[in-house]
Amino acid sequence: MTGRIPQHFIDELLQRADIVEIVGSRVPLRKAGREYKACCPFHGEKTPSFTVSPTKGFYHCFGCGAHGTALGFLMEYDRVEFVAAVEELAARLGLEVPREGGGQPQSPLAPLYDVLASATNFFEQALRAHPAAIEYLRGRGLDGETARVFRIGYAPPAWDALLGEFPEAQDERARLATAGLIVARDGGGYYDRFRDRIMFPIRDSRGRVIGFGGRVLGAGEPKYLNSPETPVFHKGQELYGLYEARQAERRLTRLLVVEGYMDVVSLAQHGIRDAVATLGTATTPDQVRRLFRVVPEIVFCFDGDRAGRSAAWRALQACLPEVREGRQVRFLFLPDGEDPDSLVRREGAAAFAERAAGSLPLSDYLLDELRRQAGPDSLDARARLAELARPLLALLPPGVYRELLTDRLAEAVGLRRERLTAALGGEPVNAPPPIPERRPRSAGQRPSLVRQAITLLVHRPDLGRDVPVPSGLGNVRSKGTALLVELLQLTRDVPGLTPGALVERFRDRPEGPHLAEILTGQLLVSEAAAARELADSLQRIVAQGRDERLAELVAKAATDGLTTAEKEEFRQLQRAGIADSG
Ligand code: CTP
Ligand code: MN
Repeated sequence: MTGRIPQHFIDELLQRADIVEIVGSRVPLRKAGREYKACCPFHGEKTPSFTVSPTKGFYHCFGCGAHGTALGFLMEYDRVEFVAAVEELAARLGLEVPREGGGQPQSPLAPLYDVLASATNFFEQALRAHPAAIEYLRGRGLDGETARVFRIGYAPPAWDALLGEFPEAQDERARLATAGLIVARDGGGYYDRFRDRIMFPIRDSRGRVIGFGGRVLGAGEPKYLNSPETPVFHKGQELYGLYEARQAERRLTRLLVVEGYMDVVSLAQHGIRDAVATLGTATTPDQVRRLFRVVPEIVFCFDGDRAGRSAAWRALQACLPEVREGRQVRFLFLPDGEDPDSLVRREGAAAFAERAAGSLPLSDYLLDELRRQAGPDSLDARARLAELARPLLALLPPGVYRELLTDRLAEAVGLRRERLTAALGGEPVNAPPPIPERRPRSAGQRPSLVRQAITLLVHRPDLGRDVPVPSGLGNVRSKGTALLVELLQLTRDVPGLTPGALVERFRDRPEGPHLAEILTGQLLVSEAAAARELADSLQRIVAQGRDERLAELVAKAATDGLTTAEKEEFRQLQRAGIADSG
């Protein structure tokens, strides 16, 4: 069990995170005055009503009402839980997420990460001691710097080279075996899984080694030996080189997905540092989601041969549920017999980059492939094409992208979109999500004083520090005063709280949506007048509360009579009122 994430850390995270950068890494933003705009990623629209405010640390869509902080955005957009969003944000800022409760119990996985880290060191050192391995890497065009960045190593040609590095205790052996580094012998004992291989450590998003790919030095079978699935290593979720790409480039705009470890490393050697590889398996939707958490554009590189084509088609299917406005998927098919490694070595980085830039957009590839599958153009082929497209379109989330693709498909089969949609089963392809009704405040209705004060504090938490809080505010019973008092206390106790961070603190509270809604609006008071206005509201709230209470007591005196305590209260209220107006 891990402890709670301390609130101060979340405040700090939101204070330091650049919401424009976070949102901008997933949705292309345009600057508009002090804010940034985009077509809303949460509902289909053609004119931008999605706004990101760097000063508030908050985003808001005027169309569908979606809003939140950088954390809320990550949760919504990446569809992750709060803790995962905190971890993602922390990782971007290079921060470790602290946990409450000092002597926190260690995660049961920690010992696995430990042995994997030790093994990585061992293989790295072994590489230095084995000239033949260094020679092999040199022969493939890699220099020491690239090897260092990727922590490439070498597993010596012995059954117990790694084993010899660790204590013989049984629990240590069990750990190494669980980590996939050693294998149990039938007759008892263990042996090294990786022998006489170049070792490519596979790292998770935090840079921890979770597994290895090992390549034979020359010819030999299998060419690559990978770590088995372990509690920390899941092939279908990880991407080789993603950690290194993020380290190399803080603001990645796209990622190239290639097939092999050597492709990633060789591209990096040539200065193309944004390549990642799947781990010898087909691209999974999990991997696509992870990539889109980092960049808005993915370029898949595949061989032009049959195997490459079929891998590309599977990758396309893994992408469909994730494509939408603002995201791009492209496909680069390489000449026969080439892979990114051989191509970049032969043609150089510039030519390779040009190929990547000219790659096929997903929609083009999809239509080309469907046309090919449907056969030479004829009425029948067009019907087949529509039929083949049906399950694929169904994978797309509703939105502008799906509409556009349906339009293109309609064009290809020679039907108007409505007809095609009907032919595909009648379901309206582009039903936008219902826009929640927003209750505009009716003209005559003025916001209450309490609401006005809360609004000022939510937009300007910095004001809480110096505003004079009139005594008696805590006794006022009108609606919202308890929240106002809490906000005053909070903004006084936590200097530097951004508007977004303030609202974020109320995520799990019933008042949360209300405060967030307030922050989506504009502050109608000028920057300069805000402090004065807040002090004023507080005064007036107290005065109003006093008047209301006095009226209550007067009424009670006339009917039931007052208790001694109430009489005393009445006198005090009157005195305070006179002092105030004097
Ligand atoms: N692969 C694997 N097991 C194999 C062969 C391949 O896991 N026996 C995976 C590896 O992840 C490898 C990728 O598939 O990186 C691509 O394999 P391949 O194209 O055969 O190798 P290359 O990457 O071209 O490797 P090299 O250039 O070193 O020959
Ligand atoms: Mn290769």
